[in-house]
Amino acid sequence: MHSAVFASPYSFTADFRVVKESALEVIKKAMLGGVSELFQVGGWPWFGADADAMDGCAPSRLGLGEVRFSGSGSGGPLLPDGADGVGLGQRNLPFYHLPVLLAETLEALQPAPGKLFFDGTLGGGGHTEALLQRGARVVAMDQDQQALAYAKERLKSYSDRFCALRGNFRYFPQIVEEAGLSGFDGMLVDIGVSSHQLDDATRGFSFNKEAPLDMRMNTDADQRASDLINTAAEQELARIFFEYGEEPNARRIARAIVKARASRLIQTTTQLADIVAAVSPKRGKRHPATLVFQALRIAINDELAALRDFLAAAPQWLKPGGRLVVITFHSLEDRIVKQGFAHLSMPELDRPEWPAPRPNPDCVLKVITRKPIEASQGEIEINPRARSARLRVAERLLS
Ligand SMILES: C[S@@+](CC[C@H](N)C(=O)[O-])C[C@H]1O[C@@H](n2cnc3c(N)ncnc32)[C@H](O)[C@@H]1O
Repeated sequence: MHSAVFASPYSFTADFRVVKESALEVIKKAMLGGVSELFQVGGWPWFGADADAMDGCAPSRLGLGEVRFSGSGSGGPLLPDGADGVGLGQRNLPFYHLPVLLAETLEALQPAPGKLFFDGTLGGGGHTEALLQRGARVVAMDQDQQALAYAKERLKSYSDRFCALRGNFRYFPQIVEEAGLSGFDGMLVDIGVSSHQLDDATRGFSFNKEAPLDMRMNTDADQRASDLINTAAEQELARIFFEYGEEPNARRIARAIVKARASRLIQTTTQLADIVAAVSPKRGKRHPATLVFQALRIAINDELAALRDFLAAAPQWLKPGGRLVVITFHSLEDRIVKQGFAHLSMPELDRPEWPAPRPNPDCVLKVITRKPIEASQGEIEINPRARSARLRVAERLLS
């Protein structure tokens, strides 16, 4: 049922900029024909209910017709801090993903009734649910239709304070601007793949599971990992493995791939993993293909550029005092966040050729976390994936 909806032309994940319709039309259609199936037309009753956050965005402007206002939300019992994921079984939901650094995220964002948040990486909805449980409203995005379908089920009791759209968070400004939103109290992105994406053998993210070599988070995107592996020049493959995976044997692996594909196209995860393993020494417990798979995933989903685009735009969408939280899982991403925050919080810029420092027009943030926050030993024991998580927080200046 959902695939037809999500494969529609207003699935703006491939490249929002080439979509002719305005974002308002996109949202309208998504609500009426696509995401509305997930969250129902009544999923946005708070449009127009809050003149401050939703300036000029009455439901009629969205073409949604009769919209039911159902007060401040159905809520639900608050889970103990940090205990998200509890209760999924009671709701007949399988495990999808355990949110990392949840308590630290809540501490940074301070969700409360009336506050409005943006979650650019909805995933299994763990972080978003914790925000909703504390009475906040959330606009969420994900480019993966499976994530949206799951989160729909999980968060259906919050449909009057929650809406989700399928899309790449790098294009969020077009969407929220057209929707008439003027600012968020907090914004969150929890970068990378979910446990579900890794565990689902059909998605091709994991070298442990025999599957087509796919790796697209957005399954409507044109290029699969197998396309890249079978067509890119040797030098380009080596660059990808070295830049995005920091793989020391990048050149040797690229050479082996080009040699192997000359006799037989590389179509599956295990085929690629075997080719890499044959020319790479095993390092400790890690599978020799770990970094190559990471690099390919980053390249196929253009993850670093998406993060840079998001960081450049997000501060403008924070209310004064609003907080931006970014969770990353490897050093490349963390470096981008660290450098992005540094630039956006520097009052003056200086260059050798300038006679004196000049004011930095981009200075709109204050950095809250000088060093990234890492998961506690307790969290890592429960969720080993949290081991590499790094959380950074910045706050929009008051003026
Ligand atoms: C680590 S998971 C998020 C988990 C989520 N915070 C939770 O508590 O369940 C990352 C999710 O972000 C999505 N994602 C990654 N990059 C994205 C992008 N540029 N735009 C939209 N979604 C993205 C992935 O599809 C995945 O579902």
